[in-house]
Amino acid sequence: SEVFRQLSQDNMRLTVCLPNLACRDRLVRTPTVIMMVGLPARGKTYIARKLARYLHWTGIQTKVFNVGDYRRDAVKGYAGKEFFDPDNTEAVAIRNSYAQHALEDMCDYLQNEGEVAIFDATNTTRERRRTVYNHCVEACGFRVFFVESICDSEEVIQANIREVKLKSPDYKGVLDTVAVEDFLSRIELYAKQYEPIDDKNDEKDYSFIKIFNCGERFLVHKTRGNIQSRVIYFLMNIHVLPRTIYLTRHGESEKNVQQRIGGNAPLSEAGKVYAEALAEYIENEKLSDLIVWTSQRQQTIDTAAKVYAPKEQWKALNGINAGIFEGLTYREVAERYPEEFAARDRSKYYYRYPSGESYHDLIARFEPVIMELERAENLLVICHQAVARCILAYFLDKDAESVPNIEVPLHTVIKLTPMAYGCMMESIPLSVRAVNTYHSKPKNCAPNRSVAEPSNQFGELDLEPKTVSTRTQIIYQNSGTAIKTTDTSGNQMQPLDN
Ligand code: ATP
Ligand code: F6P
Repeated sequence: SEVFRQLSQDNMRLTVCLPNLACRDRLVRTPTVIMMVGLPARGKTYIARKLARYLHWTGIQTKVFNVGDYRRDAVKGYAGKEFFDPDNTEAVAIRNSYAQHALEDMCDYLQNEGEVAIFDATNTTRERRRTVYNHCVEACGFRVFFVESICDSEEVIQANIREVKLKSPDYKGVLDTVAVEDFLSRIELYAKQYEPIDDKNDEKDYSFIKIFNCGERFLVHKTRGNIQSRVIYFLMNIHVLPRTIYLTRHGESEKNVQQRIGGNAPLSEAGKVYAEALAEYIENEKLSDLIVWTSQRQQTIDTAAKVYAPKEQWKALNGINAGIFEGLTYREVAERYPEEFAARDRSKYYYRYPSGESYHDLIARFEPVIMELERAENLLVICHQAVARCILAYFLDKDAESVPNIEVPLHTVIKLTPMAYGCMMESIPLSVRAVNTYHSKPKNCAPNRSVAEPSNQFGELDLEPKTVSTRTQIIYQNSGTAIKTTDTSGNQMQPLDN
Protein backbone atom coordinates (compact mmCIF):
# COMPACT_ATOMS: atom_id res chain seq x y z
CA SER A 1 0.00 0.00 0.00
CA GLU A 2 2.99 2.28 0.59
CA VAL A 3 3.95 1.77 -3.06
CA PHE A 4 0.40 2.62 -4.12
CA ARG A 5 0.39 5.72 -1.93
CA GLN A 6 3.68 6.85 -3.41
CA LEU A 7 2.44 6.07 -6.89
CA SER A 8 -0.76 7.96 -6.38
CA GLN A 9 1.07 10.89 -4.78
CA ASP A 10 3.38 11.04 -7.80
CA ASN A 11 0.37 10.69 -10.00
CA MET A 12 -1.30 13.63 -8.31
CA ARG A 13 1.82 15.72 -8.58
CA LEU A 14 2.04 14.92 -12.25
CA THR A 15 -1.62 15.71 -12.66
CA VAL A 16 -1.44 18.99 -10.79
CA CYS A 17 1.60 20.03 -12.85
CA LEU A 18 -0.06 19.37 -16.18
CA PRO A 19 -1.47 22.85 -16.82
CA ASN A 20 1.95 24.35 -15.98
CA LEU A 21 3.69 21.88 -18.25
CA ALA A 22 1.30 22.84 -21.02
CA CYS A 23 2.26 26.45 -20.38
CA ARG A 24 5.99 25.71 -20.49
CA ASP A 25 5.49 23.64 -23.63
CA ARG A 26 3.85 26.68 -25.21
CA LEU A 27 7.02 28.69 -24.77
CA VAL A 28 8.98 26.25 -26.90
CA ARG A 29 6.27 25.65 -29.50
CA THR A 30 6.19 28.28 -32.24
CA PRO A 31 2.71 29.82 -32.52
CA THR A 32 0.92 29.03 -35.76
CA VAL A 33 -1.20 31.28 -37.95
CA ILE A 34 -3.64 29.47 -40.22
CA MET A 35 -4.56 31.78 -43.08
CA MET A 36 -7.77 30.97 -44.95
CA VAL A 37 -7.81 31.68 -48.70
CA GLY A 38 -10.71 31.59 -51.16
CA LEU A 39 -13.58 33.38 -52.80
CA PRO A 40 -16.71 34.12 -50.73
CA ALA A 41 -19.05 31.19 -49.94
CA ARG A 42 -16.27 28.59 -50.24
CA GLY A 43 -16.67 27.32 -46.66
CA LYS A 44 -13.74 29.25 -45.14
CA THR A 45 -15.59 30.25 -41.97
CA TYR A 46 -17.10 26.77 -41.71
CA ILE A 47 -13.63 25.19 -41.91
CA ALA A 48 -12.05 27.80 -39.60
CA ARG A 49 -14.62 27.31 -36.83
CA LYS A 50 -14.62 23.55 -37.10
CA LEU A 51 -10.84 23.43 -36.99
CA ALA A 52 -10.74 25.79 -34.01
CA ARG A 53 -13.25 23.59 -32.16
CA TYR A 54 -11.17 20.48 -32.83
CA LEU A 55 -7.85 22.06 -31.79
CA HIS A 56 -9.47 23.58 -28.69
CA TRP A 57 -10.86 20.14 -27.76
CA THR A 58 -7.37 18.62 -28.01
CA GLY A 59 -6.12 21.28 -25.57
CA ILE A 60 -4.52 23.71 -28.05
CA GLN A 61 -5.47 27.35 -27.38
CA THR A 62 -7.03 28.48 -30.65
CA LYS A 63 -9.02 31.50 -31.78
CA VAL A 64 -10.61 32.57 -35.06
CA PHE A 65 -10.14 36.18 -36.23
CA ASN A 66 -12.90 36.81 -38.73
CA VAL A 67 -12.18 39.95 -40.74
CA GLY A 68 -15.88 40.18 -41.74
CA ASP A 69 -16.71 40.76 -38.06
CA TYR A 70 -14.15 43.61 -37.93
CA ARG A 71 -15.78 45.10 -41.03
CA ARG A 72 -19.24 44.99 -39.46
CA ASP A 73 -17.81 46.70 -36.36
CA ALA A 74 -15.98 49.38 -38.37
CA VAL A 75 -18.62 50.09 -41.03
CA LYS A 76 -22.05 50.30 -39.49
CA GLY A 77 -24.70 49.16 -41.93
CA TYR A 78 -23.92 47.14 -45.03
CA ALA A 79 -22.64 49.42 -47.80
CA GLY A 80 -23.65 47.13 -50.70
CA LYS A 81 -21.56 45.19 -53.16
CA GLU A 82 -19.75 48.39 -54.39
CA PHE A 83 -17.82 48.31 -51.14
CA PHE A 84 -16.02 45.18 -52.41
CA ASP A 85 -15.05 46.61 -55.79
CA PRO A 86 -11.22 46.54 -56.09
CA ASP A 87 -11.41 49.77 -58.17
CA ASN A 88 -13.15 51.64 -55.34
CA THR A 89 -10.00 53.18 -53.79
CA GLU A 90 -11.75 54.71 -50.80
CA ALA A 91 -13.34 51.36 -49.89
CA VAL A 92 -10.05 49.52 -50.46
CA ALA A 93 -8.35 51.83 -47.92
CA ILE A 94 -11.09 51.15 -45.34
CA ARG A 95 -10.90 47.40 -46.01
CA ASN A 96 -7.12 47.40 -45.56
CA SER A 97 -7.40 49.29 -42.29
CA TYR A 98 -9.72 46.84 -40.54
CA ALA A 99 -7.79 43.85 -41.95
CA GLN A 100 -4.69 45.43 -40.36
CA HIS A 101 -6.60 45.83 -37.10
CA ALA A 102 -7.57 42.12 -37.15
CA LEU A 103 -3.96 41.19 -37.90
CA GLU A 104 -2.66 43.21 -34.95
CA ASP A 105 -5.20 41.66 -32.57
CA MET A 106 -4.27 38.22 -33.85
CA CYS A 107 -0.54 38.77 -33.28
CA ASP A 108 -1.25 40.17 -29.85
CA TYR A 109 -3.24 37.03 -29.02
CA LEU A 110 -0.43 34.72 -30.16
CA GLN A 111 2.23 36.71 -28.33
CA ASN A 112 0.32 36.58 -25.05
CA GLU A 113 -1.82 33.48 -24.73
CA GLY A 114 -2.74 31.58 -27.90
CA GLU A 115 -1.00 28.76 -29.72
CA VAL A 116 -2.98 28.81 -32.96
CA ALA A 117 -4.84 31.72 -34.58
CA ILE A 118 -6.99 31.40 -37.69
CA PHE A 119 -7.05 34.46 -39.94
CA ASP A 120 -10.45 34.08 -41.57
CA ALA A 121 -10.64 36.39 -44.58
CA THR A 122 -10.66 35.89 -48.35
CA ASN A 123 -6.90 36.71 -48.66
CA THR A 124 -7.39 36.32 -52.40
CA THR A 125 -4.43 38.40 -53.63
CA ARG A 126 -0.75 37.50 -53.52
CA GLU A 127 -0.02 40.97 -52.19
CA ARG A 128 -2.37 40.55 -49.19
CA ARG A 129 -0.95 37.09 -48.41
CA ARG A 130 2.63 38.39 -48.62
CA THR A 131 1.86 41.31 -46.27
CA VAL A 132 0.28 39.08 -43.63
CA TYR A 133 2.93 36.37 -44.06
CA ASN A 134 5.86 38.80 -43.72
CA HIS A 135 4.37 40.41 -40.66
CA CYS A 136 3.68 37.06 -38.97
CA VAL A 137 6.91 35.30 -39.89
CA GLU A 138 9.51 38.08 -40.01
CA ALA A 139 8.19 40.55 -37.45
CA CYS A 140 6.61 38.08 -35.00
CA GLY A 141 8.44 34.76 -35.56
CA PHE A 142 5.25 32.71 -36.07
CA ARG A 143 4.66 29.87 -38.52
CA VAL A 144 2.06 30.37 -41.23
CA PHE A 145 -0.03 27.67 -42.85
CA PHE A 146 -2.48 28.44 -45.66
CA VAL A 147 -5.79 26.63 -46.17
CA GLU A 148 -7.25 27.42 -49.58
CA SER A 149 -10.77 26.29 -50.49
CA ILE A 150 -11.47 26.10 -54.22
CA CYS A 151 -14.95 25.22 -55.41
CA ASP A 152 -16.43 25.63 -58.86
CA SER A 153 -19.72 23.83 -58.30
CA GLU A 154 -22.53 26.33 -58.90
CA GLU A 155 -24.87 24.06 -56.97
CA VAL A 156 -22.65 24.06 -53.82
CA ILE A 157 -22.15 27.84 -53.98
CA GLN A 158 -25.88 28.51 -54.34
CA ALA A 159 -26.60 26.14 -51.43
CA ASN A 160 -23.94 27.86 -49.29
CA ILE A 161 -25.40 31.29 -49.99
CA ARG A 162 -28.87 30.08 -49.04
CA GLU A 163 -27.67 28.24 -45.94
CA VAL A 164 -25.52 30.96 -44.37
CA LYS A 165 -25.28 34.21 -46.30
CA LEU A 166 -29.00 35.02 -46.30
CA LYS A 167 -28.85 34.86 -42.48
CA SER A 168 -25.87 37.24 -42.33
CA PRO A 169 -26.38 40.63 -40.60
CA ASP A 170 -25.44 42.17 -44.00
CA TYR A 171 -28.82 41.09 -45.39
CA LYS A 172 -31.08 41.71 -42.42
CA GLY A 173 -34.48 42.77 -43.74
CA VAL A 174 -33.44 42.25 -47.38
CA LEU A 175 -35.51 40.06 -49.74
CA ASP A 176 -33.84 36.67 -50.37
CA THR A 177 -33.77 37.14 -54.14
CA VAL A 178 -32.11 40.58 -53.80
CA ALA A 179 -29.61 39.24 -51.25
CA VAL A 180 -28.62 36.27 -53.46
CA GLU A 181 -28.16 38.62 -56.43
CA ASP A 182 -26.00 41.01 -54.38
CA PHE A 183 -23.88 38.19 -52.96
CA LEU A 184 -23.25 36.70 -56.40
CA SER A 185 -22.07 40.14 -57.62
CA ARG A 186 -19.82 40.37 -54.56
CA ILE A 187 -18.24 37.04 -55.55
CA GLU A 188 -17.72 38.39 -59.08
CA LEU A 189 -15.88 41.44 -57.71
CA TYR A 190 -13.54 39.21 -55.71
CA ALA A 191 -13.10 36.88 -58.69
CA LYS A 192 -11.76 39.84 -60.75
CA GLN A 193 -8.63 39.97 -58.59
CA TYR A 194 -8.42 36.39 -57.24
CA GLU A 195 -4.98 34.80 -57.52
CA PRO A 196 -4.97 31.20 -56.24
CA ILE A 197 -1.84 30.23 -54.26
CA ASP A 198 0.96 29.85 -56.78
CA ASP A 199 2.70 26.60 -55.86
CA LYS A 200 5.16 26.81 -58.75
CA ASN A 201 6.73 30.29 -58.50
CA ASP A 202 6.10 33.20 -56.11
CA GLU A 203 4.49 31.21 -53.32
CA LYS A 204 6.27 27.89 -53.70
CA ASP A 205 7.94 28.18 -50.28
CA TYR A 206 4.66 28.52 -48.36
CA SER A 207 3.18 25.61 -46.42
CA PHE A 208 -0.41 24.99 -47.50
CA ILE A 209 -3.28 22.68 -48.28
CA LYS A 210 -5.63 23.28 -51.19
CA ILE A 211 -9.07 21.71 -50.81
CA PHE A 212 -10.92 21.19 -54.08
CA ASN A 213 -14.72 20.87 -54.27
CA CYS A 214 -15.47 20.06 -50.61
CA GLY A 215 -12.68 17.48 -50.27
CA GLU A 216 -12.97 15.71 -53.64
CA ARG A 217 -9.20 16.31 -54.02
CA PHE A 218 -6.38 17.83 -51.94
CA LEU A 219 -2.97 19.34 -52.65
CA VAL A 220 -0.61 19.40 -49.66
CA HIS A 221 2.61 21.40 -49.95
CA LYS A 222 5.67 21.77 -47.66
CA THR A 223 4.11 20.80 -44.33
CA ARG A 224 6.07 21.76 -41.21
CA GLY A 225 5.55 20.46 -37.69
CA ASN A 226 3.00 18.65 -35.62
CA ILE A 227 0.19 21.24 -35.67
CA GLN A 228 0.20 21.43 -39.47
CA SER A 229 0.13 17.63 -39.78
CA ARG A 230 -2.81 17.41 -37.41
CA VAL A 231 -4.65 20.17 -39.25
CA ILE A 232 -4.15 18.38 -42.58
CA TYR A 233 -5.26 15.02 -41.17
CA PHE A 234 -8.39 16.64 -39.72
CA LEU A 235 -9.26 18.53 -42.92
CA MET A 236 -8.89 15.36 -44.96
CA ASN A 237 -11.44 13.60 -42.75
CA ILE A 238 -14.28 16.11 -42.54
CA HIS A 239 -17.22 16.13 -44.94
CA VAL A 240 -20.32 18.24 -45.51
CA LEU A 241 -22.91 15.51 -46.13
CA PRO A 242 -25.96 15.87 -43.88
CA ARG A 243 -26.03 13.26 -41.09
CA THR A 244 -27.10 12.69 -37.51
CA ILE A 245 -25.14 11.27 -34.61
CA TYR A 246 -27.20 9.57 -31.90
CA LEU A 247 -25.34 9.43 -28.62
CA THR A 248 -26.44 7.47 -25.57
CA ARG A 249 -24.99 5.89 -22.47
CA HIS A 250 -25.61 2.18 -22.00
CA GLY A 251 -28.78 1.07 -20.22
CA GLU A 252 -28.62 1.14 -16.43
CA SER A 253 -26.19 -1.56 -15.27
CA GLU A 254 -26.10 -3.61 -12.07
CA LYS A 255 -23.02 -1.59 -11.08
CA ASN A 256 -24.95 1.66 -11.55
CA VAL A 257 -27.63 0.35 -9.20
CA GLN A 258 -24.98 -0.57 -6.61
CA GLN A 259 -23.35 2.86 -7.14
CA ARG A 260 -20.06 1.23 -8.22
CA ILE A 261 -17.76 2.96 -10.68
CA GLY A 262 -16.07 1.55 -13.77
CA GLY A 263 -15.83 -1.93 -15.26
CA ASN A 264 -17.90 -4.47 -17.07
CA ALA A 265 -21.42 -5.17 -15.85
CA PRO A 266 -24.67 -6.77 -16.99
CA LEU A 267 -27.73 -4.57 -17.47
CA SER A 268 -30.23 -4.19 -14.62
CA GLU A 269 -33.91 -4.93 -15.32
CA ALA A 270 -34.48 -1.23 -16.12
CA GLY A 271 -31.38 -1.28 -18.36
CA LYS A 272 -32.86 -4.17 -20.36
CA VAL A 273 -36.10 -2.21 -20.80
CA TYR A 274 -34.04 0.74 -22.08
CA ALA A 275 -32.28 -1.53 -24.61
CA GLU A 276 -35.73 -2.42 -26.00
CA ALA A 277 -36.91 1.20 -25.96
CA LEU A 278 -33.74 2.34 -27.73
CA ALA A 279 -34.18 -0.24 -30.51
CA GLU A 280 -37.78 0.89 -30.99
CA TYR A 281 -36.78 4.57 -31.03
CA ILE A 282 -34.07 3.97 -33.63
CA GLU A 283 -36.41 1.89 -35.78
CA ASN A 284 -38.90 4.78 -35.78
CA GLU A 285 -36.19 7.16 -36.99
CA LYS A 286 -36.24 5.16 -40.28
CA LEU A 287 -32.51 5.45 -41.07
CA SER A 288 -31.35 3.39 -44.01
CA ASP A 289 -27.60 3.51 -43.45
CA LEU A 290 -27.08 3.56 -39.69
CA ILE A 291 -23.95 2.10 -38.06
CA VAL A 292 -23.79 1.33 -34.33
CA TRP A 293 -20.64 1.77 -32.27
CA THR A 294 -20.29 0.29 -28.79
CA SER A 295 -17.39 -0.04 -26.38
CA GLN A 296 -16.04 -3.48 -25.52
CA ARG A 297 -17.99 -3.52 -22.25
CA GLN A 298 -20.96 -5.83 -21.72
CA GLN A 299 -23.38 -3.04 -20.76
CA THR A 300 -22.95 -1.24 -24.11
CA ILE A 301 -22.96 -4.42 -26.21
CA ASP A 302 -26.18 -5.59 -24.52
CA THR A 303 -27.77 -2.16 -24.95
CA ALA A 304 -27.11 -2.37 -28.70
CA ALA A 305 -28.30 -5.97 -29.03
CA LYS A 306 -31.82 -5.24 -30.30
CA VAL A 307 -30.89 -2.38 -32.64
CA TYR A 308 -31.16 -3.60 -36.21
CA ALA A 309 -27.97 -2.23 -37.84
CA PRO A 310 -24.31 -3.21 -38.37
CA LYS A 311 -22.25 -2.92 -35.17
CA GLU A 312 -18.62 -2.18 -34.36
CA GLN A 313 -16.93 -2.52 -30.98
CA TRP A 314 -14.30 0.09 -30.03
CA LYS A 315 -11.86 -0.39 -27.16
CA ALA A 316 -11.29 3.37 -27.29
CA LEU A 317 -14.94 3.87 -26.27
CA ASN A 318 -14.51 1.99 -22.95
CA GLY A 319 -15.37 4.05 -19.87
CA ILE A 320 -12.79 6.03 -17.91
CA ASN A 321 -10.36 3.67 -16.15
CA ALA A 322 -10.73 4.31 -12.42
CA GLY A 323 -7.51 2.35 -11.70
CA ILE A 324 -7.31 1.02 -8.14
CA PHE A 325 -10.78 2.46 -7.46
CA GLU A 326 -12.56 0.34 -10.09
CA GLY A 327 -15.58 -1.33 -8.52
CA LEU A 328 -15.71 0.98 -5.47
CA THR A 329 -18.49 3.45 -4.71
CA TYR A 330 -17.77 7.18 -4.45
CA ARG A 331 -18.45 6.88 -0.70
CA GLU A 332 -15.89 4.06 -0.33
CA VAL A 333 -13.29 6.09 -2.23
CA ALA A 334 -13.99 9.11 -0.01
CA GLU A 335 -13.68 7.06 3.16
CA ARG A 336 -10.59 5.05 2.20
CA TYR A 337 -8.72 7.64 0.11
CA PRO A 338 -9.99 11.03 1.32
CA GLU A 339 -7.04 12.96 -0.16
CA GLU A 340 -7.50 11.38 -3.57
CA PHE A 341 -11.23 12.02 -3.45
CA ALA A 342 -10.71 15.68 -2.57
CA ALA A 343 -7.98 16.03 -5.23
CA ARG A 344 -10.39 14.79 -7.91
CA ASP A 345 -13.06 17.24 -6.81
CA ARG A 346 -10.54 20.06 -6.96
CA SER A 347 -9.34 19.35 -10.47
CA LYS A 348 -11.58 16.71 -12.03
CA TYR A 349 -10.38 17.22 -15.60
CA TYR A 350 -6.67 16.73 -14.86
CA TYR A 351 -6.96 14.30 -11.93
CA ARG A 352 -5.66 10.88 -12.93
CA TYR A 353 -6.96 7.88 -10.97
CA PRO A 354 -4.00 5.95 -9.44
CA SER A 355 -3.07 3.40 -12.13
CA GLY A 356 -5.98 4.70 -14.17
CA GLU A 357 -6.96 7.66 -16.35
CA SER A 358 -7.95 11.31 -16.21
CA TYR A 359 -10.43 13.09 -18.49
CA HIS A 360 -7.38 14.66 -20.11
CA ASP A 361 -6.07 11.14 -20.91
CA LEU A 362 -9.49 10.18 -22.24
CA ILE A 363 -9.45 13.02 -24.79
CA ALA A 364 -6.04 11.79 -26.06
CA ARG A 365 -7.29 8.18 -26.26
CA PHE A 366 -10.36 9.40 -28.02
CA GLU A 367 -8.78 11.49 -30.79
CA PRO A 368 -8.76 8.68 -33.43
CA VAL A 369 -12.44 8.06 -32.65
CA ILE A 370 -13.25 11.71 -33.38
CA MET A 371 -11.56 11.37 -36.79
CA GLU A 372 -13.72 8.34 -37.57
CA LEU A 373 -16.76 10.18 -36.24
CA GLU A 374 -16.03 12.96 -38.72
CA ARG A 375 -15.77 10.47 -41.59
CA ALA A 376 -18.95 8.62 -40.62
CA GLU A 377 -22.50 9.33 -41.75
CA ASN A 378 -25.52 8.35 -39.58
CA LEU A 379 -24.22 6.85 -36.39
CA LEU A 380 -25.48 5.53 -33.03
CA VAL A 381 -22.77 5.64 -30.35
CA ILE A 382 -23.49 3.65 -27.17
CA CYS A 383 -20.89 4.45 -24.55
CA HIS A 384 -20.23 5.45 -20.95
CA GLN A 385 -20.75 8.63 -18.92
CA ALA A 386 -17.21 10.09 -19.15
CA VAL A 387 -16.81 9.15 -22.82
CA ALA A 388 -20.19 10.69 -23.72
CA ARG A 389 -19.06 13.91 -21.97
CA CYS A 390 -15.91 14.04 -24.11
CA ILE A 391 -17.92 13.54 -27.31
CA LEU A 392 -20.39 16.26 -26.31
CA ALA A 393 -17.55 18.61 -25.40
CA TYR A 394 -16.22 18.20 -28.94
CA PHE A 395 -19.52 18.95 -30.64
CA LEU A 396 -20.54 21.76 -28.30
CA ASP A 397 -17.07 23.33 -27.94
CA LYS A 398 -16.88 23.09 -24.15
CA ASP A 399 -13.90 24.24 -22.09
CA ALA A 400 -11.77 21.44 -20.62
CA GLU A 401 -12.69 22.32 -17.03
CA SER A 402 -16.43 21.93 -17.71
CA VAL A 403 -16.14 18.52 -19.46
CA PRO A 404 -16.30 16.30 -16.34
CA ASN A 405 -19.46 18.01 -15.11
CA ILE A 406 -21.58 17.84 -18.27
CA GLU A 407 -24.88 16.14 -17.42
CA VAL A 408 -25.54 13.03 -19.50
CA PRO A 409 -28.37 11.15 -17.77
CA LEU A 410 -28.98 7.45 -18.28
CA HIS A 411 -31.79 6.36 -20.60
CA THR A 412 -31.60 9.48 -22.75
CA VAL A 413 -30.77 9.72 -26.45
CA ILE A 414 -28.83 12.82 -27.50
CA LYS A 415 -29.32 13.62 -31.15
CA LEU A 416 -26.54 15.73 -32.69
CA THR A 417 -27.07 17.28 -36.10
CA PRO A 418 -24.08 19.24 -37.44
CA MET A 419 -25.13 22.52 -39.06
CA ALA A 420 -23.30 25.27 -41.00
CA TYR A 421 -21.35 26.83 -38.13
CA GLY A 422 -22.25 24.57 -35.21
CA CYS A 423 -24.36 21.68 -34.07
CA MET A 424 -28.00 21.21 -33.13
CA MET A 425 -28.46 19.13 -30.00
CA GLU A 426 -31.70 17.44 -29.07
CA SER A 427 -32.05 15.53 -25.82
CA ILE A 428 -34.69 12.78 -25.80
CA PRO A 429 -35.32 10.92 -22.52
CA LEU A 430 -36.97 7.58 -23.34
CA SER A 431 -39.04 7.47 -20.12
CA VAL A 432 -37.43 4.38 -18.61
CA ARG A 433 -36.66 4.68 -14.89
CA ALA A 434 -32.96 4.85 -13.97
CA VAL A 435 -30.71 5.75 -11.05
CA ASN A 436 -28.92 9.09 -11.16
CA THR A 437 -25.16 8.59 -11.55
CA TYR A 438 -24.20 12.28 -11.55
CA HIS A 439 -21.44 13.04 -9.04
CA SER A 440 -21.87 16.73 -8.39
CA LYS A 441 -19.00 19.02 -7.49
CA PRO A 442 -19.08 19.85 -3.75
CA LYS A 443 -19.98 23.49 -3.11
CA ASN A 444 -17.13 24.11 -0.64
CA CYS A 445 -14.45 22.72 -2.96
CA ALA A 446 -11.69 25.06 -1.79
CA PRO A 447 -8.40 24.88 -3.73
CA ASN A 448 -6.39 23.89 -0.64
CA ARG A 449 -8.90 21.39 0.80
CA SER A 450 -6.93 18.18 1.32
CA VAL A 451 -9.63 15.75 2.46
CA ALA A 452 -13.25 15.16 1.51
CA GLU A 453 -16.00 16.70 3.60
CA PRO A 454 -18.33 14.16 5.21
CA SER A 455 -21.77 12.89 4.17
CA ASN A 456 -23.58 15.08 1.65
CA GLN A 457 -20.34 16.14 -0.03
CA PHE A 458 -19.91 12.69 -1.61
CA GLY A 459 -22.08 13.61 -4.57
CA GLU A 460 -23.75 10.33 -3.77
CA LEU A 461 -25.78 8.40 -6.30
CA ASP A 462 -29.50 8.75 -6.03
CA LEU A 463 -30.68 5.42 -4.61
CA GLU A 464 -34.29 6.09 -5.44
CA PRO A 465 -34.92 5.24 -9.08
CA LYS A 466 -36.84 8.05 -10.67
CA THR A 467 -38.73 8.56 -13.88
CA VAL A 468 -36.95 11.02 -16.09
CA SER A 469 -38.84 13.81 -17.81
CA THR A 470 -40.18 13.14 -21.27
CA ARG A 471 -39.60 16.61 -22.70
CA THR A 472 -37.32 17.14 -25.63
CA GLN A 473 -34.80 19.94 -25.41
CA ILE A 474 -33.42 21.42 -28.58
CA ILE A 475 -30.36 23.60 -28.61
CA TYR A 476 -29.22 25.36 -31.73
CA GLN A 477 -25.57 25.75 -30.90
CA ASN A 478 -24.17 28.14 -33.43
CA SER A 479 -20.89 29.29 -31.91
CA GLY A 480 -22.75 31.21 -29.29
CA THR A 481 -25.02 33.09 -31.67
CA ALA A 482 -28.41 31.44 -31.37
CA ILE A 483 -29.48 29.05 -28.68
CA LYS A 484 -33.12 28.09 -28.74
CA THR A 485 -34.94 25.53 -26.65
CA THR A 486 -38.38 24.13 -27.19
CA ASP A 487 -40.32 21.22 -25.79
CA THR A 488 -41.84 18.51 -27.97
CA SER A 489 -44.99 20.54 -28.49
CA GLY A 490 -42.97 23.46 -29.82
CA ASN A 491 -43.41 25.73 -26.76
CA GLN A 492 -40.54 28.03 -25.94
CA MET A 493 -38.50 26.97 -22.89
CA GLN A 494 -35.84 28.67 -20.78
CA PRO A 495 -32.45 28.58 -22.56
CA LEU A 496 -30.15 25.93 -21.14
CA ASP A 497 -26.91 26.84 -19.45
CA ASN A 498 -24.73 26.16 -22.44
P1 ATP B 1 -17.17 34.48 -46.88
O1 ATP B 1 -15.90 34.74 -47.61
O2 ATP B 1 -18.32 35.22 -47.44
O3 ATP B 1 -17.06 34.68 -45.41
P2 ATP B 1 -16.88 31.61 -46.60
O4 ATP B 1 -15.93 31.09 -47.61
O5 ATP B 1 -16.36 31.86 -45.22
O6 ATP B 1 -17.57 32.92 -47.13
P3 ATP B 1 -18.86 29.98 -45.31
O7 ATP B 1 -19.63 31.08 -44.65
O8 ATP B 1 -17.94 29.23 -44.43
O9 ATP B 1 -18.09 30.57 -46.57
O10 ATP B 1 -19.84 28.95 -46.03
C1 ATP B 1 -20.49 27.97 -45.24
C2 ATP B 1 -20.96 26.85 -46.13
O11 ATP B 1 -19.84 26.27 -46.80
C3 ATP B 1 -21.62 25.73 -45.37
O12 ATP B 1 -22.92 25.58 -45.89
C4 ATP B 1 -20.77 24.49 -45.65
O13 ATP B 1 -21.55 23.32 -45.87
C5 ATP B 1 -20.03 24.87 -46.91
N1 ATP B 1 -18.69 24.27 -47.03
C6 ATP B 1 -17.95 23.67 -46.10
N2 ATP B 1 -16.77 23.25 -46.59
C7 ATP B 1 -16.73 23.62 -47.88
C8 ATP B 1 -15.77 23.49 -48.92
N3 ATP B 1 -14.59 22.88 -48.70
N4 ATP B 1 -16.06 24.01 -50.14
C9 ATP B 1 -17.25 24.63 -50.35
N5 ATP B 1 -18.21 24.77 -49.40
C10 ATP B 1 -17.97 24.29 -48.19
O1 F6P C 1 -21.07 5.86 -12.50
C1 F6P C 1 -21.05 5.45 -13.84
C2 F6P C 1 -19.72 5.82 -14.52
O2 F6P C 1 -19.80 5.54 -15.91
C3 F6P C 1 -18.47 5.17 -13.91
O3 F6P C 1 -18.19 3.88 -14.41
C4 F6P C 1 -17.39 6.18 -14.21
O4 F6P C 1 -16.23 6.01 -13.40
C5 F6P C 1 -18.13 7.46 -13.92
O5 F6P C 1 -19.47 7.26 -14.36
C6 F6P C 1 -17.57 8.68 -14.64
O6 F6P C 1 -18.19 9.84 -14.10
P1 F6P C 1 -17.35 10.82 -13.10
O7 F6P C 1 -16.17 11.23 -13.91
O8 F6P C 1 -18.36 11.94 -12.83
O9 F6P C 1 -16.91 10.10 -11.87
